Amino acid sequence: MVNWFLREPGMTEQPEYGRGPASGESVMNPSRQTRSAYCAVFIAALVFTASCGQEQNTASGGDHDFSQWPTVDSPIAKDPAMEERIDELIAEMTLEEKIGQMIQADIRGVTPGDVRKYHLGAVLNGGESAPGGTEPNDNKLAPVAEWAALAQRHWQASMDASDGHAAIPIMWGTDAVHGHANVAGATVFPHNIGLGAANDPALMRRIGEITAREVAVTGLDWNFAPTVAAVRDDRWGRTYEGYSESPAVVKNLAGDYVKGLQGDFGPAGVIATAKHFIADGGTERGDDRGNAVTTPGELKDIHLPGFEAALNAGAQSVMISYGSWNGTRMHVHRELITGLLKEHMGFDGLVISDWEAIDLVPACSLQSCPEAVNAGIDMFMFGDRAAWKGFIENTLEQVKDGTIPAERIDEAVTRILRVKMRAGLFDQPAPADRPLTNDLDRFGSDAHRAVAREAVRRSLVLLKNRESILPLSRDARVLVAGKSAHDYANQTGGWTITWQNAENTNSDFRGATSVWEGIEAIVPGAVLSEDGAVANGGESFDAAIAVIGETPYAEERGDLEDKTLEHAALYPEDLALLDELNAAGIPVVTVFISGRPLYVNKELNRSEAFVAAWLPGSEGGGIADVLFKNADGEIHHDFTGKLAFSWPAEACQTAVNIGDRPYTPLFPLGHGLTYADHEPLGDELPEASADAPCR
Ligand code: BGC
Ligand code: BGC
Repeated sequence: MVNWFLREPGMTEQPEYGRGPASGESVMNPSRQTRSAYCAVFIAALVFTASCGQEQNTASGGDHDFSQWPTVDSPIAKDPAMEERIDELIAEMTLEEKIGQMIQADIRGVTPGDVRKYHLGAVLNGGESAPGGTEPNDNKLAPVAEWAALAQRHWQASMDASDGHAAIPIMWGTDAVHGHANVAGATVFPHNIGLGAANDPALMRRIGEITAREVAVTGLDWNFAPTVAAVRDDRWGRTYEGYSESPAVVKNLAGDYVKGLQGDFGPAGVIATAKHFIADGGTERGDDRGNAVTTPGELKDIHLPGFEAALNAGAQSVMISYGSWNGTRMHVHRELITGLLKEHMGFDGLVISDWEAIDLVPACSLQSCPEAVNAGIDMFMFGDRAAWKGFIENTLEQVKDGTIPAERIDEAVTRILRVKMRAGLFDQPAPADRPLTNDLDRFGSDAHRAVAREAVRRSLVLLKNRESILPLSRDARVLVAGKSAHDYANQTGGWTITWQNAENTNSDFRGATSVWEGIEAIVPGAVLSEDGAVANGGESFDAAIAVIGETPYAEERGDLEDKTLEHAALYPEDLALLDELNAAGIPVVTVFISGRPLYVNKELNRSEAFVAAWLPGSEGGGIADVLFKNADGEIHHDFTGKLAFSWPAEACQTAVNIGDRPYTPLFPLGHGLTYADHEPLGDELPEASADAPCR
C-alpha cells in the first residue's frame, strides 16, 4: 500500500506545484511514460529560468510577504538571565574578539596558538581533515584519543585569558552525517536516503542519541546534521544525504533526529545543524551548488518543511546553502536569512556559512564578504587555507568604515554565545574531564551497532520478488557475487573516514561487517566470488546474490549532470555480472547499493528479486537478516522499507517527484513489497538507453 506516504501533513491547500493523479495507479506501468509531457515541463522551466535564472551580484533585500509562512516554536526558550550574561560578556569584548568569535577554521588551517591569539569561536574538521594532518586525508585513521587530545588543546587555548581577553569556550563542529563516520571505528548508520525509506521517527531519535554519544567520546561539540533537503533531481551528488524528495517525509524525520542529537544538552548532547538553507535539493539539473528556480510557494511547501521540523525540535544552528535561489546566492540572501529565518520565523540560534562558500559569491572573495555578514550570517566556515586571517582584517576594516554596522556584529556574537551557553559549553569542564571523553565502550560498541543493523533492515526496499524466491533458506547453496559484496567503502558511501571515501580500502575500516560477512555468518553453504567466476565452475547453486551498485562519492563529484541515470551505462561491469549469472542458469537476487534511485530496467530484467539497499553503512549484517529465513525456516525479518524517492522508468527521468503531473515513475513514492505480496514484475521492462547528457 502506498497511500500513507502521499499525504503531506501540514499542507492544507493544493500546493502551487500541482498534484498528480492518485499516484498508486502508475506503479509498474512503464508504458504510460509520456515524453511529450516532460518536454512541456522542460520548456516551461526554460522560459522561467531565462527570466529569473541570472546570477545576481548584489545582496537581496527582496519584497516577499512572509506573513503567512510558518514560524518557529522552539522548545528552547530565551532565558533572561542568560541574555543578561551574554550582554555583559559582549560589553567586555573588543571588536577583534567579537570578529574572532565569528570564525570557524579547519583544524588543518589553524593551531591552538591561533585560537588563543585571534580568539576564534570555533574549529571544524572538514571531510578530509583529521588531527595531526596537514595534507588532505593525512592521519585519517587517527584514534579517538588523538581527536580528544586536539579538542583539549583547542579548548585550553580558547580559555586562556592570560592576555586579559574573555575566556570563551571554543566549539568543534564535524560532519557526523551518518554516525561519527569521520572517525575510524565509529558506528556508521545508513545514509539518510535509507533512513527515509525506513521512515521511523523513533528510530531517528535513537540514531541521533547514539551519534551524539560517539561525537562526545571524541570531545567534539557540534554536528553539521541533519541535511533536510527535499531532493528533487536525482542527478544531484548529494541525493543520499537527503531523506526524501517528499517534504512530508523530511519533516517527519528531522525533528526526532535533532532531539536525539541535542538531548537536553547533558554530557551526551551535541548541537544540531539544519542544512543547507534553502533549496539545496532543488537546483536545476541537480547541479551541486547550483541555482534553484522556484516560486515562493514551492520554496515554502517543498524546501522549508525540513527546517520547520528541525527548528521546532530546537536545532541551534542553520547552515546556508552554497546554491542560489532564483539567481541570488543564498550566502548573500538577506531577505531569506534575516527576513524569513531570523525575523519572521524567529530562529534565535546561529547561522553558519558553508565551507569557503563566500568565495562563490560574485561580489566576494574568501578574504572579504561584507554582503554575507550583512545578510545575516553569524559564523564563517573556513577551509584548510588560512584565509580566515584576511577575512578578520577585512571585516575589522568594514566595521570601522561603516560597511558593516557594529550592531550586526553584536547580533552575530550574541547568537554564537547563546548557542554556546545553551549547549552547556560554559558550564562543562574541559573536554578531557567530560564524563564521556575517551570512553571507548561507547564508541562503535555492540549496542550502537545493533541499532545501526536494525536501521539497515528497516531501510531495505523490495522491488521485485518473482515467485517468492526470497526469503532464502539458510540451507541453500548460495553464490555471493558483485564488487560490493565485501567492500566497506562501497556500502558506506561518501562522508566516511574521508570526504569521498574513494581512497579507502577494507583495512581502513574497524569493526564493520560486509554484506558477505553477514551472509557467511548464518549460511554455511555460501560461497564468495566477487567477479562471479565461480558461477562457471560447474557447481550448482540455488541462488546468486549479486551485490552491485554505485561506488562512493561526495558533493559535486557525485553529480550526474552530464550523464544519464542509466546504471548499465555508468557501471557496465554490474550488468556483465548479471549476464554471466543468467548464462550460468543461476537465479539472481540483486542487492543494489546506491546513493540514489537509478534507471535499472536492464538489471531488473536479469534478476528474480531486486532489493534497493541504499548506502547501508557499517552493519552489512542487516541485509542477511532480511534475505534469509530464520533457523526454523520461517520469515526472520520481513521488508518494511518503502520508497522515499520515486524510481525512474527511463534513463532521463531525472526529476520525477510525487506531485508531478503527469506522474509516471517505474515505482511511485511509498512503494515497497513485503513477503506477503505476490506482485509479479515481468522480465520485459523496456531497456531503452538515452543519450547523455539528459535534457
Ligand atoms: C558541505 C557541508 C559540510 C561542510 C564541512 C561543505 O562542503 O557542503 O555540508 O558540513 O563542507 O565539511
Ligand atoms: C568539504 C570538506 C572537504 C573539502 C575538501 C569541502 O567541500 O565539505 O569537508 O574537506 O571540500 O576540499
